[in-house]
Amino acid sequence: MKAFVAKPFIKWVGGKTQLLGEIEKSLPKKLRQYENVIYVEPFVGGGAVLFWMLQQYPNIQKAIINDINAELICTYRIVKTDVVELIAQLKKLQDEYISCDADGRKVYFLERRSEFNTKHLSDVRTAALFIFLNRTCFNGLCRVNSKGEFNVPHGKYANPKICDEENLLAVSKLLQKVDIYCGDFAETEKFAGENTIFYLDPPYKPISETSSFTSYAKEGFNDAEQIRLRDFCARITRKKAVFIASNSDPIEVKTGESFFEQIYYQFKIKRVSATRLINANPNNRGFVSEIMISNVVNA
Ligand SMILES: C[S@@+](CC[C@H](N)C(=O)[O-])C[C@H]1O[C@@H](n2cnc3c(N)ncnc32)[C@H](O)[C@@H]1O
Repeated sequence: MKAFVAKPFIKWVGGKTQLLGEIEKSLPKKLRQYENVIYVEPFVGGGAVLFWMLQQYPNIQKAIINDINAELICTYRIVKTDVVELIAQLKKLQDEYISCDADGRKVYFLERRSEFNTKHLSDVRTAALFIFLNRTCFNGLCRVNSKGEFNVPHGKYANPKICDEENLLAVSKLLQKVDIYCGDFAETEKFAGENTIFYLDPPYKPISETSSFTSYAKEGFNDAEQIRLRDFCARITRKKAVFIASNSDPIEVKTGESFFEQIYYQFKIKRVSATRLINANPNNRGFVSEIMISNVVNA
């Protein structure tokens, strides 16, 4: 795999950097020969796959990204359209934070978190604070409570890189051919057609009851949502789009059966292993099986 320059500008639970090799193997073998490819990522999160795809496949003419998280999407839009002002604000946040002692950093973090939760900010301020909080909070989590407020505690990293200017500029350049939407994944169905590739990475189905402590947005993603996504996959397949979807691989305790094998029986399924940083308890992190589903004929 070629080295790449632009990488995710935020840490995101479920980030797919380590699965890129497996995703590459699942793509249509002749993808490089396709003309005017449209790439669609309806659950973009940190965008690891998006940035990799855009740099690996120059024949992607246009990309469409979507996520339900409004602040995340606001940040993508600002990186695309106002990166110079964003960098200026991040540099200031970085200088002010780094110059504090340990107690001062915590106070500064909590003040910026309250500012972020006031929700009456300019888009560029929202984006700057979103990146700042992501870099300085515990584990780089983005968790909101039932009121939609960001509530992750301070992270205590010794030297967090709050402003990665070089990467932000590289990402901004790549985003120029990306259309950015905020909403439900189902709204991207209208882009399905020939030469369209969807990569779908929805919130994971919890491996166990207790592992689902993280919520990206106020709205959850339960089994009914997973089935709604399967129906979406069936519809975009009928429209001749290619899709690859990933998820966790939970085995039902009562029946010993795999939920995704049951609901996706008409598609291809393979298992891959991934180290997942999804559990707050470091003892429970490790290799977990991940499932990849696709309608790619040659994969
Ligand atoms: C597993 S993460 C994606 C991770 C991403 N592939 C990465 O590498 O960072 C799932 C994403 O789905 C978003 N999401 C949750 N429900 C959604 C919905 N109904 N429609 C669109 N996006 C949704 C979350 O905000 C989150 O960013």
